[in-house]
Amino acid sequence: MARKKIAILTGGGDAPGLNAVIYALVRAIINNPSLDYGVIGYKFGYRGLYNNEYMVLNHNTTSGILHRGGTILYSSNKDNLFDYLVEENGQMVKKNVSDKAVQNMKDENVEVLVVLGGDGTLTSARDFARKGVNVIGVPKTIDNDLKATDTTFGFDTAVAFATDALDRLHSTAESHHRIMVVEVMGRYAGWIALHAGISGGAHSILIPEIPFDLKKVAAKVIKRDNEGRQYSLVLVAEGAKPTDGDLAVAAAAEIGKAERLGGIGERVAAGLQELTGKDCRVVVLGHLLRGGSPTTFDRLAALRFGAAAVRALDEGHNGVMVALAYPDVDYVPLTEVAGRMKGVPLDCDTMKTGRDMGISFGD
Ligand code: F6P
Repeated sequence: MARKKIAILTGGGDAPGLNAVIYALVRAIINNPSLDYGVIGYKFGYRGLYNNEYMVLNHNTTSGILHRGGTILYSSNKDNLFDYLVEENGQMVKKNVSDKAVQNMKDENVEVLVVLGGDGTLTSARDFARKGVNVIGVPKTIDNDLKATDTTFGFDTAVAFATDALDRLHSTAESHHRIMVVEVMGRYAGWIALHAGISGGAHSILIPEIPFDLKKVAAKVIKRDNEGRQYSLVLVAEGAKPTDGDLAVAAAAEIGKAERLGGIGERVAAGLQELTGKDCRVVVLGHLLRGGSPTTFDRLAALRFGAAAVRALDEGHNGVMVALAYPDVDYVPLTEVAGRMKGVPLDCDTMKTGRDMGISFGD
């Protein structure tokens, strides 16, 4: 009989640390003689599961990937097999094709599916668990917006990059007495903006959790000017919105694909230029936040998740996600993960620290 297998897939937007999870998982299997599994990785997330497109993962094929950004398995952030676009009689229609995915796994002798992803990907993981598939989830996202874990890998790397960008922008903003508006990702949560903004000395931070009044941000700029500090750094999360306006959406939602946020930085800069008369420039950090090697923190979190996923399957857990619960790694039912977004609590210590630093949140 064919050797039983564990399959891995990476779904959603990539995050630094995905390769470290794959690396750890493969090694934890190899180094545990009681676990006689082969490992395969489906390519492009769930799409590879549907098309049965995979690569064999072993010591050789995962050698040297620990520190690399991205994912050797590639990813897709629009392929939900429970609501999947397929061609039928010359027309594109949405269908639940999850049975085909389950059959593909049976045919390949896959006993456990390890899913690395954020909310959307893990919601599908929960749905596969409900269909009787042995699933273990691993939380990833630079946005840090998953409720069931203390933190996700990828977040620290994104914050470090944004903080470095702010460090660099201080001097050029000061040289020209300008306002620099920096837009960062994060979807509907302000974690990246908050952590990088405080660490990088931003003067205003605009996050989705606090609708902002641009006049208050302008007042902060003018106050600084009057005090002789004639430049300002305004960090705005892509999901932030004004009290009297809407989210900035760069592309509307399509079938199976979430709306794409973007453009709030330009709007804030235009408004501030008008309100203050000062020269403004915009920097959109965008996908730079997702690129490059994971920080030590993210690497270690990813390695711990990969090893814990193997421990979870060895201990017979199923339908769970590995989660950081400092100082340990815990297993959380996937039913408690899906659809539960973690925004910034307005009374958390980091928020209080920001306010104590005199940072304006536009409220
Ligand atoms: O969820 C991660 C993330 O980078 C968000 O911060 C951002 O809104 C989104 O993905 C962008 O996705 P895409 O890769 O489709 O541009």
